[in-house]
Amino acid sequence: MIKIKSEKEVQLMRRAGKIAAAARSLAGKMVTEGVTTHSINKRVHDFIISQGAVPTFLGYSGYPASICISVNEEVIHGIPSSRKLQSGDIVSIDIGATKDGYIGDCAATFTVGDVSPLTQKLVEVTEQCFYEGLKFAKAGYRVSDISRAIQSYAEENSFSVVRKYVGHGVGSKLHEDPEVPNFVEKPRRRADPRLVPGMTLAIEPMVNIGDAAVKVLGDGWTVVTADLARSAHYENTILITCGEPEILTATEEAS
Ligand code: MF3
Ligand code: CO
Repeated sequence: MIKIKSEKEVQLMRRAGKIAAAARSLAGKMVTEGVTTHSINKRVHDFIISQGAVPTFLGYSGYPASICISVNEEVIHGIPSSRKLQSGDIVSIDIGATKDGYIGDCAATFTVGDVSPLTQKLVEVTEQCFYEGLKFAKAGYRVSDISRAIQSYAEENSFSVVRKYVGHGVGSKLHEDPEVPNFVEKPRRRADPRLVPGMTLAIEPMVNIGDAAVKVLGDGWTVVTADLARSAHYENTILITCGEPEILTATEEAS
């Protein structure tokens, strides 16, 4: 069941989204050589709390940290640790913030020092995949129109999209209907609803340099590419409107 948000709920989603986006910016600024992923987790946790919100992921299905930090071949759900970031690494940071019962969910991949041209391209293509999908995040299109745009752009650039994990509706729950895959399946196995104003979706391309296959590490959380080639992730929570979509986790320009 897809929950269409009222104007009052949308207002709460905007507040939560702003906090998640600001936390993502803060995390991105901390991504430098020598910093531990644990210290980023701690700082972002404290920031979210300072905003009167709570880190959505902490304790979610038993997840043991406040945010997810996935380095290089790690795709998603990396657990912060004493690992120090090194020049050449890419770091995907995924953040959820719950404020007054509503959630903002967003992610981005950041680079450390000098990265290879192929790695740089992966990061840029993954972010652009989100914007390609966003072009179809309008009333009257279907979820699969978003999926197709994301998959096409990734594959045109010789990358692959992860199939095992998908985007999702988001609201008072982290994962609501509908699922928002980054690929189109033939024959179709899931519902493919039409987009309607008031839907709030987390659109989150996960893009691999190599094969689409992934596996979960022994910690039960960290998802890595099966071929150990690098992966990037970019995500925003968006609102379907009568016109252009609204990015609820948009990065604010510093003023
Ligand atoms: N953005 C991810 C998602 O929507 C993060 C979930 S991590 C978890 O699925 F720890 F909360 F599971
Ligand atoms: Co998400």
